[in-house]
Amino acid sequence: MANKVFRENILQGKVAFVTGGGTGITGGVARALSKAGAKVAITSRKTENLEPMKKTIEDGGGECFAVASDVRDYEAVESAIAATIDHFGKIDIVVNGAAGNFLCKASELSANGFGTVVDIDTKGTFNVCRASYEELKKNGGQIINISATLHYLATPMQIHVSAAKAGVDAITRNLAVEWGRKGIRVNGIAPGPIEDTEGMKRLLPPQLKEALTRKIPLQRFGLIEDIENSAVFLASDGASYINGVTLVVDGGHWLTGTGLG
Ligand code: HXC
Repeated sequence: MANKVFRENILQGKVAFVTGGGTGITGGVARALSKAGAKVAITSRKTENLEPMKKTIEDGGGECFAVASDVRDYEAVESAIAATIDHFGKIDIVVNGAAGNFLCKASELSANGFGTVVDIDTKGTFNVCRASYEELKKNGGQIINISATLHYLATPMQIHVSAAKAGVDAITRNLAVEWGRKGIRVNGIAPGPIEDTEGMKRLLPPQLKEALTRKIPLQRFGLIEDIENSAVFLASDGASYINGVTLVVDGGHWLTGTGLG
């Protein structure tokens, strides 16, 4: 099991803006940033996906601002960022977690299906980075882009997400170089198979779970808490010389290839 390794309040005084922050892995990240002392704004397309996490964060003693926006729509992103700055006074940390996914063979995927996932994951990540640039520059802020390991080799039925996440990794490296000079750190996290997530529900038929577990060198699925710990670390001053890295948090899974054998 994952251990809690970070002291309370390590992010005291910080404000985080988390896309896809209502549910799943990025919901966990939002909650963890709050537990570490940050005020947290969460955004996703639907307000109903945000309200339960807002309540969870507030019940835990944190401050949360929920604002609906679609990361594909640059003006909506600009408004959500402006509303967050109005509400909390600033933004120091941006987490790009909004993502689309479904299984589909390349030969059956429509151009719009491919484009929709690239628009959410890649263009959405750019939009949020670009729209928050001036604010992050003011505050010596930083960005964490949630990626994947699917594109390190090749993952059948995931051509759209693989292309989209390869683009996200390119954004992480490019901005680390261009914006590092402006005092903004830009990093990523590439989760492997994580328990209790929408992604796993969509991607892994239950009968394959045992075979996949055997294939993971650490012999277990990751927990959302594993990703939370990585995000809190990257967001903290403890990572102040880390820039342009996508931290793989997958128990060593991708090194064993894409098959289940
Ligand atoms: C084939 C599909 C499809 C499917 C949608 N499309 N679902 N094609 N198989 N199952 C196609 C549609 O036919 C359409 O193309 C196009 O995609 C857009 O679909 P819409 O429904 O109009 O789009 P929209 O509502 O904007 O978004 C759809 C969505 C989204 C992208 C599927 O609902 C979504 O992904 N939700 C899941 C959110 C989620 O689980 N996020 C976590 C991701 S996990 P046509 O040509 O028909 O118009 C993750 C981790 C990966 O990323 C790593 C794991 C190890």
